[in-house]
Amino acid sequence: MLRTHTCGELRISDVNRDVTLAGWVQRLRDKGSLLWIDLRDRYGITQLVFDETHTPRELMEQARKLGREYVVQAEGTVVERVSKNDRIPTGDIELRVKKLTVLNPSRVPPFTIEDDTDGGDDLRMKYRYLDLRRTPVRDNLMLRHRVARETRAYLDSQNFVEVETPVLIKSTPEGARDFVVPSRIHRGEFYALPQSPQTFKQLLMVSGFDRYYQIVKCFRDEDLRADRQPEFTQIDCEMAFVTQDDILSVFEGLIKHLFKTVKGIDLPEVPRMTYEDAMRQYGSDKPDTRFDMRFKELTDLVKGKGFQVFDNAEIVVGICAKGCAEYTRKQLDELTEYVRRPQIGAKGLIYLQYKTDGSVKSSVDKFYTPEDLKGWIERFGANPGDLILVLAGETNATRKQLNELRLLMGDRLGLRDKNTYSALWVIDFPLLEWDDENQRYHAMHHPFTSPRKEDIPLLDTDPGKVRANAYDLVINGNEIGGGSIRIHDKPTQQLMFRKLGFTPEEAQKQFGFLMEAFEYGAPPHGGIAFGFDRLCAVFGGSDSIRDFIAFPKNNAGRDTMIDTPSTISQEQLDELGLVIKPE
Ligand code: AMO
Repeated sequence: MLRTHTCGELRISDVNRDVTLAGWVQRLRDKGSLLWIDLRDRYGITQLVFDETHTPRELMEQARKLGREYVVQAEGTVVERVSKNDRIPTGDIELRVKKLTVLNPSRVPPFTIEDDTDGGDDLRMKYRYLDLRRTPVRDNLMLRHRVARETRAYLDSQNFVEVETPVLIKSTPEGARDFVVPSRIHRGEFYALPQSPQTFKQLLMVSGFDRYYQIVKCFRDEDLRADRQPEFTQIDCEMAFVTQDDILSVFEGLIKHLFKTVKGIDLPEVPRMTYEDAMRQYGSDKPDTRFDMRFKELTDLVKGKGFQVFDNAEIVVGICAKGCAEYTRKQLDELTEYVRRPQIGAKGLIYLQYKTDGSVKSSVDKFYTPEDLKGWIERFGANPGDLILVLAGETNATRKQLNELRLLMGDRLGLRDKNTYSALWVIDFPLLEWDDENQRYHAMHHPFTSPRKEDIPLLDTDPGKVRANAYDLVINGNEIGGGSIRIHDKPTQQLMFRKLGFTPEEAQKQFGFLMEAFEYGAPPHGGIAFGFDRLCAVFGGSDSIRDFIAFPKNNAGRDTMIDTPSTISQEQLDELGLVIKPE
């Protein structure tokens, strides 16, 4: 090997050893008679030293000519440093170099490759391979590696079998948009990239594999966000002969194992909350439970007092922000502006300040007596010093708006610390979701999710009320995973497709293979998939999954490093029988 040690390895006990290191020149400090180089590799930084007393003049000159990011090999003796650096593990020693070999020179890098870089986002994306040399970025990928390793270790210990499923599959209309791949041999026909291996993992259950998992790439042609990439990775799992409880407990085990081994944290038992309660108490199916600040409804208390906004509202609901009663007029106006932003869409914000001296001031004093307002305070269990913030309107929209306000107040009060973790199972999701635009029901999770047995009769009378055997894992307000107990018989699956507006022919064409498989002894089964990138981001305390993907796409879905998406040659188009229509 070109080295005897790594740049993160040498300690005071190695003094007087002759060693060879190899790495990148991070920094060169030249004091004339004394010259230092920070040599970096994946493992750390070791200081190389050249001084006039010990270093021949030619070697000194050779060192002086090195540029940033040159790849060099340095042979020499480990010596104790005069002034030690306690910020790095190798800070007690340095390498007095006797021989230097340039393994490869480097152009001046477009940004500094240090923990704090001067490189903007775009530049770092274009030169991602250089960005990956930086410790914080590399640490994220090392974290990802550990999460993957521990996932495999746990699932292997639980008898799960890793099976690869195909990447060239069939386009289906449910869910997000597919990425499609034209077939050359079958002109006019297309493969699609999987949005998830859902149907394959169910077929593996029919095959008797019993416990399957795969750390697998999935592809969805949807708008990008901080927590969404067009290609992302799932920890995809399926089990046969299980109930929902079995699945929740096996995968709570996985999450606990990951917290323990990757973060050194003992995660307490993960509480369960129904979708309905989550919506009622937090206005979200992925509540951030690091802090309480649950919704309280005032609807019954406030109607009929002449305040039109409340009188006309379907729901009047609020939160209590502890210790915020002394907010200034300006701060309250800011909150009002916040909820009125088009992205949030509230018409206005009502507040009640329960001041520290016990007095009460509200923005609706005109309509409500001090007695009335005391009723509000009691409902919230508010204390002097607290601020009650209230929104009113149509139920679902108002709850969503209040959810945004709750998160903002959580941020303001420092209640969303990224080193605190709170996990939650959200269960009993609705089976179907009404799509106003297309005037039809969608499967809220996917069409293979089973309805709860007791709710099946509702499929005909009140489909929106049917609950599914579906669950999500939420950590710190992020949807980390989701799954369900599946339908495993043909008649129920047919019924489901019918309810989703498929004709029998369409259902047969799209999913005939699955329904046929159900006729050959399909065991009861269910599963879950975790967003692997999201899990890593949560462990790394970041909102952006991009930081945890080696080569991510940018906000516009582009990889600017390899420059894709890109055009293909006319010859390729012809071969595939494709014609590009002008916009
Ligand atoms: P679902 O669609 O809920 O379920 O996806 C599972 C988890 O994958 C993550 N995720 C994403 N992560 C990054 N970028 C994206 N674009 C993206 N989309 C989803 C989320 C989500 O919770 N087959 C089912 C699972 C099952 O039923 O077993 C499925 O794919 O963290």
